[in-house]
Amino acid sequence: RTRIFSGVQPTGHLTLGNYLGAMRRWAEEDQHRAEALFCVVDLHALTVEHDPARVRRLSRQAATLLLAVGLDPELCTVFVQSQVDEHLRLSYLMECTASDGEMRRMIQYKEKAAREQARGGSVRLSLLSYPALMAADILAYGTHEVPVGEDQAQHVELTRDLAVRFNQRYGATFVVPKATHPAVAARVMDLQEPTSKMGKSHVRTAGTVYLLDEPEVVRKKVMRAVTDPGSDVVYERGERPGVANLLDVLAACSGGDPERLAEGYSSYGALKKDTAEAVVEMLRPVRGRHAELAAEPAYVDEVLRAGAERARGLARPRVDAAFRAMGLLG
Ligand code: TYM
Repeated sequence: RTRIFSGVQPTGHLTLGNYLGAMRRWAEEDQHRAEALFCVVDLHALTVEHDPARVRRLSRQAATLLLAVGLDPELCTVFVQSQVDEHLRLSYLMECTASDGEMRRMIQYKEKAAREQARGGSVRLSLLSYPALMAADILAYGTHEVPVGEDQAQHVELTRDLAVRFNQRYGATFVVPKATHPAVAARVMDLQEPTSKMGKSHVRTAGTVYLLDEPEVVRKKVMRAVTDPGSDVVYERGERPGVANLLDVLAACSGGDPERLAEGYSSYGALKKDTAEAVVEMLRPVRGRHAELAAEPAYVDEVLRAGAERARGLARPRVDAAFRAMGLLG
């Protein structure tokens, strides 16, 4: 059976980008067609300056949101990374497989390192080795497919390289995975700065729609989205990034095609209004289920406990085999 793994970092509140780029497909498609595991990757959240209490709170909230968007623990495995030791064990082997140079080439590393330095902080060593841990997350489970937004493509490519290299040097141990991306909205852009990705850890929040934003807040953010000079609605990602982003979001919410949708609009105002309503309606049930689940922390804990146990059982034999293959007495 096809195996699927993906994850989300609890470094901030989850966003519309996380939902459209990744989580929605996990719930609507992936969990139904494969043996699928979805993980709150809390170890990754320690790679940048962090507040322990906040990370703990956000991890819980992310896990609750995974269930709220429709992941069903009867169909898939939902768990928290730090509760399964295999990720850390395999991560070290991946560090011994990767080179310093290939880690330094990662776009996310360059961007985040620059951001940490601009804040006057130092860059944690784990930020550089992050892709080794991510590769471990994926490879531990014999994963075939990794459903992610476009921004993670480079990390999954590196994971493939590491799997191939490991298999060649030490014997066939890992499945070589591939990334899959949604057809539309694989890269949702910031509403205030449509040339950069909508991200959960941006300091300015006006351009980011969070999954738990109140409907009024969502409306305001979308209505104030930066559009482009001109006034006719056309789908041009290069020339008209702001309008193209709204069309992508509207298409993703309503199931249409962005270029076709553009033909139906003659003003930015109408496009924004429809996009805002589509997002509000899409998020309404998510907010509702989140509120219900947040009132049942014992249920969420039990899902995570059972998920971790199942994940451990799936990962353990392969990670043990990798230890032995690399020459450890393990
Ligand atoms: P993270 O936490 O940044 O994002 C979680 C998922 O959401 C997608 N995403 C987006 N998609 C479209 N538009 C956006 N603006 C947008 N922002 C985020 C991401 O592509 C991702 O699929 N390194 C990963 C977490 C991770 C992981 C893994 C993923 C760790 N180990 C193993 C897959 C497999 C990350 O930082 O995602």
